[in-house]
Amino acid sequence: MHLTPLQPDIFPALAQMFVAKFQQLRAAVPVLPDTLAAPARVVEQLAWLKGGVVAWDGAQPVGYLGWFIVPEFRGTPRTGAYCPEWGHAARGSTAAIYRALYRAAAADWAAAGCGVHAISLLAHDTAAQQVWFWNNFGLTVVDAIRPMQPLDTPADSGLTVRRATPDDLPGLVALEAEHTRHYAEPPVQMAAYEGHSMDALAAFISGEHNTIWLALDGSDYAGFIRFENDGDGAAAVVAAPDQIAVTGAYVRPAYRGRRAAPHLLDAGLRHYAAQGFTRCSVDFESFNPEAAAFWPKYFTPVCLSVTRIPEQPPI
Ligand SMILES: CC(C)(COP(=O)(O)OP(=O)(O)OC[C@H]1O[C@@H](n2cnc3c(N)ncnc32)[C@H](O)[C@@H]1OP(=O)(O)O)[C@@H](O)C(=O)NCCC(=O)NCCS
Repeated sequence: MHLTPLQPDIFPALAQMFVAKFQQLRAAVPVLPDTLAAPARVVEQLAWLKGGVVAWDGAQPVGYLGWFIVPEFRGTPRTGAYCPEWGHAARGSTAAIYRALYRAAAADWAAAGCGVHAISLLAHDTAAQQVWFWNNFGLTVVDAIRPMQPLDTPADSGLTVRRATPDDLPGLVALEAEHTRHYAEPPVQMAAYEGHSMDALAAFISGEHNTIWLALDGSDYAGFIRFENDGDGAAAVVAAPDQIAVTGAYVRPAYRGRRAAPHLLDAGLRHYAAQGFTRCSVDFESFNPEAAAFWPKYFTPVCLSVTRIPEQPPI
């Protein structure tokens, strides 16, 4: 095996390699959009990468790894090297190919001052997951998807569930402050989540296709779920014009475990299904215990993003 830098003339062959893997995932999760099943579309995406390396067996490309360099990765002071799910694939000896690609890439990333390495993996690709786990990477973000159909067992939390209006902004700001604290506290201790201000929430609910659904106990706010058309930061494999993303959920501790969140989710799913949207996605931190217990009951994971913080900071 030998390695060369990523060059545009090889993009069509690399796109085929990714599409073959992606088609296996789509066979298992048919609700995934077919956008990235088109090699030409993957070629367009590959052109955005800022660096990459290709592994060859003689004249045959057998793997590739491409990346972006991301300042202040996930809201931390670290510069990150990030490989999207369409930015890599391996054919044949997965472990040997990825190890060789990573050795070369990591040298470039150290030179670029990267203090964190990250890669998104297709959820069915257990061979790739094993390689990156052995390379000191751990699960960080899960992207998941479901059809936009109501829950099999409609949830009744005993709370009133309705869509938020501008009159709810003060109540929403208070919920959002608690929601933000949840991510800062142990065991989550996330740097990235910044709560929405009153102005940001007002702008949000006025956006086309954006909704926030509220659970109320009389006049007391118990929780919310937020949906939007533009799930910024979500995996490319879930993106489609007929997809809506869940981009926030919070239920006050006193109301947890009585199915407020499923009730809210069901209300949102019914609303968007009636508008002709067919898929709903969510991404969540796997190290947020409440999220990790909740979303997989209703959504199928399709993309697993893993990260590594090398013990030795970049020189
Ligand atoms: C995730 C969250 C929205 C779920 O809300 P919920 O209304 O409690 O959802 P459910 O009623 O379906 O309960 C979910 C699970 O919580 C657990 N649970 C039960 N009682 C609980 C309690 N008093 N406190 C905490 N969790 C409880 C149960 O394991 C339940 O699972 P089960 O269906 O197997 O019984 C809520 O836990 C929350 O706000 N967490 C903090 C914010 C967060 O992580 N948001 C997700 C962002 S990605």
